[in-house]
Amino acid sequence: MNAKRTDETQRLAGQGGAKLILFGEHAVVYGAPAIVAGTGVGATATLRFANEPQLIVTDGVTGAVHATVEPTDEEPLARAFGAILDVFDARKVRASVVVHVPIGAGMGSSAAMALALARALVEYTDAPAELVAEAVAASETVFHGTPSGVDQAAAMREGIFRFRRDAEPSIEPLRVPDVHLLVSHASPGESTSEMVSRVRAFHDAFEETATRIDDTIGDIVKQAARAMTAGDWTTVGALMNVNHGLLSALGVSSESLDAACHVARRAGAWGAKLTGAGGGGCVVAIAEQPGDVLDAWTERGWTPFDFHVQSPGV
Ligand code: PMV
Repeated sequence: MNAKRTDETQRLAGQGGAKLILFGEHAVVYGAPAIVAGTGVGATATLRFANEPQLIVTDGVTGAVHATVEPTDEEPLARAFGAILDVFDARKVRASVVVHVPIGAGMGSSAAMALALARALVEYTDAPAELVAEAVAASETVFHGTPSGVDQAAAMREGIFRFRRDAEPSIEPLRVPDVHLLVSHASPGESTSEMVSRVRAFHDAFEETATRIDDTIGDIVKQAARAMTAGDWTTVGALMNVNHGLLSALGVSSESLDAACHVARRAGAWGAKLTGAGGGGCVVAIAEQPGDVLDAWTERGWTPFDFHVQSPGV
């Protein structure tokens, strides 16, 4: 199948959401539950007809072009683009994607980008909408190896959810009072597959200890789900701090992530932790006075974000 519309001036757009893992990253790969927030728009894709396929990714935070690739290139972004086009059996397309969150920093930019592209391609090729999930999964496999599916599940939704990777991944909404999720981009992120491999190596070397850490993170997720639905943010914050400590124990924190957590806590945050694969990237915090935390991060030169997340019907 190729472009339904061959008019050079015709443009079609799609959007994909970003995500924040609030509890349970890495342990989710080993079967623990996780809590994740879908933050709304994370990427916007625009497609138009072209004889040679090309993808241009712009960093919407800095305004700079992040990458220009063709599907035959070797790098992961190019292979992911090729994998998405293959699902739609499409080639004659030039895609431009603007990513509105830090790229490769734990906020699910790759899933948001894949989702935005796939949604636009459904329109472009007249393909069934069911192909969207297949395309995002194909793209995530390029970036993540064997993803738990948490990024993809969150990218497709808005609000706060409990996720579990079983034979079939399950995701259910949590009814949580409105909350400001404060995010700081503390340093460039590491590749997710690299960090997942690091945790795998830790599991191989210290199996019993690693399993206990994963089990404890699983317990924290259950307590956090109860505290969040009750709006008990002091407890939620304390549990975020513990989850961060356990992620450090798994070897996925970094000096800048630890520093961003300490700065947030000193500025009065109820709690702070790294979010996503770690090794660098972003931290997430919650606070009674969000402005104090955002100001403290800005003073340190980190880029802050404030996501106001609402659960429908609460
Ligand atoms: O790609 P990130 O930074 O959003 O991290 C994905 C979450 C992990 O638990 C680290 C990996 C996974 O597949 O669940």
